[in-house]
Amino acid sequence: MPPQARVPERNTVSDQQLSDLLPFARPEEAAETAPVETPVETPVADDRPLGPTGRPMPDLPDPKPLTEHGPARVISMCNQKGGVGKTTTTINLGAALAEFGRRVLLVDFDPQGSLSVGLGLNPHEMDKTVYNLLMDRSTRLEDVVVPSGVPGMHLLPSNIDLSAAEVQLVHEVAREQTLQRVLAPAIAAYDVILIDCQPSLGLLTVNALTASDGVIVPLECEYFALRGVALLKNTIDKVQERLNPKLEVDGVLGTMYDGRTLHGREVLERLVQAWGDHVFHTVIRRTVKFSDSTVAGEPITSYASGSTGADAYRQLAREVALRCLDA
Ligand SMILES: Nc1ncnc2c1ncn2[C@@H]1O[C@H](COP(=O)(O)OP(=O)(O)O)[C@@H](O)[C@H]1O
Ligand SMILES: [Mg+2]
Repeated sequence: MPPQARVPERNTVSDQQLSDLLPFARPEEAAETAPVETPVETPVADDRPLGPTGRPMPDLPDPKPLTEHGPARVISMCNQKGGVGKTTTTINLGAALAEFGRRVLLVDFDPQGSLSVGLGLNPHEMDKTVYNLLMDRSTRLEDVVVPSGVPGMHLLPSNIDLSAAEVQLVHEVAREQTLQRVLAPAIAAYDVILIDCQPSLGLLTVNALTASDGVIVPLECEYFALRGVALLKNTIDKVQERLNPKLEVDGVLGTMYDGRTLHGREVLERLVQAWGDHVFHTVIRRTVKFSDSTVAGEPITSYASGSTGADAYRQLAREVALRCLDA
């Protein structure tokens, strides 16, 4: 039998080395799954049906049409675990917000470039990427931004070049603020900027959090998904304390939910116990349509517009708009 192919290391420095260079010490992984922060609202006598998270489902009206655009809220999709739905949520929440008339900019901030590939781009045929924006001050935003195939939604693409930026940024002045500087000219032109983070808590993710107003944490509805969440919360808190006081948790999103299993419901229950009303009422169910739409290179909202997956992301868009865009 041939030896198993080794997955190449994506970065030339380890997460540990990188975090040694961060402006704060890497926190020890806390034993508990997540800090108890916001108490769950005491359920009032309510005849609304309970949603999948066990709380009464609020009314989620369509966001009002806008007559003018900007300034954008910048939101990072963040979880150091891979395969939890960060990229899927970035693409489909963005596309659903664009359907509601929001001007959306997606930022591919993962050297794996899945967001760009998921929108039909070829990683070998990119002229300029986020790497050029970060590392070369003569590159302008308009040299890099490309259409996404969805009206009203644009993309800053990335490919494996971005992994070099993570290493090179370490030597830059204000290395944590580089993405923030690069995105500044886009704030006035868009209503929302979504940053798809890589699965690590290294310097790229710290840059994304420093550039953001809010964070959305997608979490797979599996028991082990709860591990590591305390470390993520700790990183968010440290960035908020030391680099970006305005940073907020916009929401925790249960993904790949299977309502037929007791297990899935238990995980959601634990999530609500730990994160209270930070947990979105909207939950994304597990369906193969998501992988199919990635292969097709388009969001599920256009690939399978009438599917439950598309509707779930439209509902999330209403909830995000109500919570933190139009508030
Ligand atoms: N709700 C879902 N149901 C089924 N598969 C999903 C769902 N969300 C994402 N996926 C699939 O799971 C894989 C990982 O999702 P992805 O969004 O790339 O995660 P991440 O960006 O956190 O690594 C992808 O193949 C994606 O198509
Ligand atoms: Mg991803």
